[in-house]
Amino acid sequence: MKPTKATITFDNDAKSIELPMLSGTAGNDVIDIRSLGKHGVFTYDPGFMSTAACQSNITFIDGEKGLLHYCGYPIEQLAEHCNFLEVSYLLMHGELPNTAQINDFTGIISSHTMLHDQLSNIFRGFRRDAHPMAVMIGVVGSMSAFYFDAMDVYNPQHRAISAHRLLAKIPTIAAWSYKYNLGQPFMHPKNKLNYAENFIHMMFATPCEEYTPNPVLARAFEKILILHADHEQNASTSTVRLVGSSGANPFASIAAGIASLWGPAHGGANEATLQMLEEIGDVSRIDEFIKRAKDKTDSFRLMGFGHRVYRNMDPRAAIMRKTCHEVLNELGLQDDPMFKLAMELEKIALEDEYFVSRKLYPNVDFYSGIVMRAMGIPNSMFTAIFALARTAGWIAQWSEMNADPEHKIGRPRQLYTGETRREFVPIDKRA
Ligand code: SDX
Repeated sequence: MKPTKATITFDNDAKSIELPMLSGTAGNDVIDIRSLGKHGVFTYDPGFMSTAACQSNITFIDGEKGLLHYCGYPIEQLAEHCNFLEVSYLLMHGELPNTAQINDFTGIISSHTMLHDQLSNIFRGFRRDAHPMAVMIGVVGSMSAFYFDAMDVYNPQHRAISAHRLLAKIPTIAAWSYKYNLGQPFMHPKNKLNYAENFIHMMFATPCEEYTPNPVLARAFEKILILHADHEQNASTSTVRLVGSSGANPFASIAAGIASLWGPAHGGANEATLQMLEEIGDVSRIDEFIKRAKDKTDSFRLMGFGHRVYRNMDPRAAIMRKTCHEVLNELGLQDDPMFKLAMELEKIALEDEYFVSRKLYPNVDFYSGIVMRAMGIPNSMFTAIFALARTAGWIAQWSEMNADPEHKIGRPRQLYTGETRREFVPIDKRA
């Protein structure tokens, strides 16, 4: 029988505290500590290692078994059988769309893919060598100055319109960030192409000649988007929820999520993994870097390895490795030295006691960079593409939060370790 309450007892004469326990449909039960504050104590959990910050029906992860489900569907099946807009619809509505629904949804998204013409000027405020993530944070945030006709976060219609605008425009914004770096003209979306093809077209086409995306690469790219679409309450999603909990508009909330994803410990790891592989350069140097990763005096970590939740192989990494094979075979790059180096590094690390004992396995970022690099996408765009994909999950989670009548502004407390009260000292009396 599942416990229905937890009791906290103290090793002094303080009265014990009884707290209810809550169960979900899967995963860990939780101790409901909302009433704890009135007993004069807080919980302490920097990094939220053991804290459930919300209820959600969207994504379930089993870290021990290496499982990832979107609304109950295993990621392996969705990556194999769905297109990205089907998965986006699933995340936003909780059900896979039927034919009429996906046709209607695709039509809505296609009608929002263009950017307001003035928005193109925002790009021009950046230096040409600005990192695409810096540009995306700026442009997505500035959308609140262009699309403010539907920003009442408590109005479901407004939430839907802003969600559609973000999902539709984020590929255009990401592709234009790249084009701006290159000094090439922006390519407008072509709505006869599907979501993944449209992005690849905006990235690589030029006005000078016809460009047809390679269907095998476009499908591989779409799988990358599906794998990255959502992932429970990770750092960037928690950022979107916390910013959104104040009633901030959807564009400001998603811009904050992009900012959080940029970190090398999070979404920036795919770019950092490629840089690491380029630095290792050859299988003969793998042991040197494994040694550094284990050295506590060295800040170096094996990028693309380890995960806060997965204590098993990240299921996305396995799918990504298979997609890597497909793309390299399609491009005749079977002997790509970077891929061979990555597989050898994975093999050696997974036989090393340090990684095995800490259950450090490849995560989604370990292979994604190799696939994107093989497709001609520069390192600097890897995290921008992660942000493109995760926008679907961020708006689903942001909408779920705003639709919850019980949600409150997020306001954590602290363990105060500073000076206790003391009297002001005039400057001529200070040491
Ligand atoms: C993503 O949360 C999500 O869901 C994120 C994400 C998503 O889809 O949103 O899955 C996307 O961010 C994937 C993770 C990408 N990041 C990286 O690949 C960067 C490298 N990985 C690490 O920085 C680290 O593994 C984290 C940040 C991912 C997780 O760190 P934790 O959970 O805080 O674990 P920890 O730092 O407490 O490490 C536990 C131990 C430590 O050693 P000891 O103190 O026990 O001796 O494992 C070691 C760490 O030093 N360790 C590593 C390591 N990762 C952890 N040692 C070497 N190389 C690594 N990569």
